[in-house]
Amino acid sequence: MHIVHTLPALRCALATYQHPAVVPTMGNLHDGHLALVRQAKPLGDVTVATIFVNRMQFGPSDDFDSYPRTFAADCAQLEAAGCDVVFAPSEQVLYPEPQTFRVEPSPALANTLEGEFRPGFFSGVCTVVMKLLACTQARTAVFGKKDYQQLMVIRQMVQQFNLPVDVVGSDTRRASDGLAMSSRNGYLSPAERAQAGELYAALCTLAQAVRGGQTSVQALQDAAMATLRSTGWKPDYVALRRQSDLQAPAPGEAMVVLAAARLGNTRLIDNLEL
Ligand code: PAF
Repeated sequence: MHIVHTLPALRCALATYQHPAVVPTMGNLHDGHLALVRQAKPLGDVTVATIFVNRMQFGPSDDFDSYPRTFAADCAQLEAAGCDVVFAPSEQVLYPEPQTFRVEPSPALANTLEGEFRPGFFSGVCTVVMKLLACTQARTAVFGKKDYQQLMVIRQMVQQFNLPVDVVGSDTRRASDGLAMSSRNGYLSPAERAQAGELYAALCTLAQAVRGGQTSVQALQDAAMATLRSTGWKPDYVALRRQSDLQAPAPGEAMVVLAAARLGNTRLIDNLEL
């Protein structure tokens, strides 16, 4: 496995390949990331993982400084998963000058849910993903469906800019209690970790109620938020939306329920397609 930190070294490592399959990450890898790498492997002629903690997508009170940097362990895991090339640029390499051009995603998709609670987040994500796709000359890029809205925003960006990239969504990996794998799970105390499966349980309960014929979206969302609050969570949202554009669902449309909630100091997100 080649580990490269600069653009010339990346170009050299990829020079003989036509179809890079790329997994963008911020490092601190877990089994969910490694599943993305394994999924990417047959989709290209070289598998590339990028590791870059992107300051631009963090808000002023977010965890940019404390975000775990575990580069050596990440590389060992990537190599074991069959990754061919790791591109881990410094900020100086990826942003050699102030980034005055930015990708601004469609407000209808990017200003709701995560975008409402994390202003500028999706602009930061799109800008760095655009740069990483350009640097790696990706022909396929694999993203986790845990970040459901992020995946939709990236798909729309790729479509609207005619990027020659197949965007592939990968199913969320879960622990046995349902907790979605996430780098931020490492912030949970043992007591919080024991409780953390409640977020997915709340989504399952809501989905079950919809399947059982309950139709009041507001009542379903309120009930899920109340259940979470009753055990100490601070939910930002539990929202039942339609899958196509994350707007309010109409009867008969394919739906997804998405949630973000804090347990102690850790903010977790999850979703479930119905
Ligand atoms: O999902 C992530 O890890 C990040 O948002 C991404 C896509 C690597 C962009 O920094």
